[in-house]
Amino acid sequence: MVSNSLDVVFGAGSGIGQALIERWYRAGERRVLAVSRSIDTVAHSESRPEIEHVACDYSDTALATLAERLKDEQADVVRLVICNGVLQGEDYRPERALSQLDLAAMRQVFEVNTFLPMRILAAMTPALKQSACTRVAVLSARVGSIGDNRLGGWYSYRGSKSALNMMLKCAALELRRVNPAVKILAYHPGTVDTPLSMPFQKGVPAEKLFTPERAAEALEGVMSRFDVEGDLAYLDWRGEPIPF
Ligand SMILES: NC(=O)c1ccc[n+]([C@@H]2O[C@H](COP(=O)([O-])OP(=O)(O)OC[C@H]3O[C@@H](n4cnc5c(N)ncnc54)[C@H](OP(=O)(O)O)[C@@H]3O)[C@@H](O)[C@H]2O)c1
Repeated sequence: MVSNSLDVVFGAGSGIGQALIERWYRAGERRVLAVSRSIDTVAHSESRPEIEHVACDYSDTALATLAERLKDEQADVVRLVICNGVLQGEDYRPERALSQLDLAAMRQVFEVNTFLPMRILAAMTPALKQSACTRVAVLSARVGSIGDNRLGGWYSYRGSKSALNMMLKCAALELRRVNPAVKILAYHPGTVDTPLSMPFQKGVPAEKLFTPERAAEALEGVMSRFDVEGDLAYLDWRGEPIPF
């Protein structure tokens, strides 16, 4: 195990993130940095030296401190996954009609689904520049596809993921100039049985509702084989391209 090589998961308390960390821990290839608002939500946080848990409030200061640390230890980031995302909150639901749009709710969804992943990517850029070859997966969603939108609704969630995809495209184009070995993936995991999808699982056939473990396996597989030269890949859990 090369001491400065590591995998990093942001939103490590998510259903998909936790399953991925567990999978990578079992594979034992390298150290995993698990970044979450609360390390209590990350399974087995206490007992595994190969997994380092970092509690992070995602403030600019906290992200800068983490970035500085990775730079100082000359971290070689092999895989970076950003799982943070929300679909609904305590006092808002995905909108079905224009009449349900609410500025505070829209702000919150864009804050977590669009701005936060991009702020994380910005903070991680010095580490990506110094890394040998990094595969980055940011959890997007198929409903962020404009070309694939036939039902409408879910204005904020859809819009925040579309905006995320556009910003990721900009990042892919920018980063290819500084490190062409950084490959970026906007990823749709399918419908996964997690707190995020829980209220919306009715009507999803059992075979189309993935366990987090299955979703983690698929994500690892797609991450290992997608190939883009300095551009953004937008792929689903089968590795199939999704139209932007
Ligand atoms: N589940 C699905 O069916 C599905 C389908 C398509 C796309 N996705 C996408 O996959 C990703 C992971 O989803 P999941 O289903 O695993 O979700 P989840 O279990 O509900 O976890 C979501 C994570 O988002 C982070 N988060 C939530 N609110 C936040 C806030 N206010 N500020 C910062 N971070 C916040 C948290 O990370 P920490 O607390 O650990 O920091 C939380 O663990 C999301 O981006 C989601 O949009 C999921």
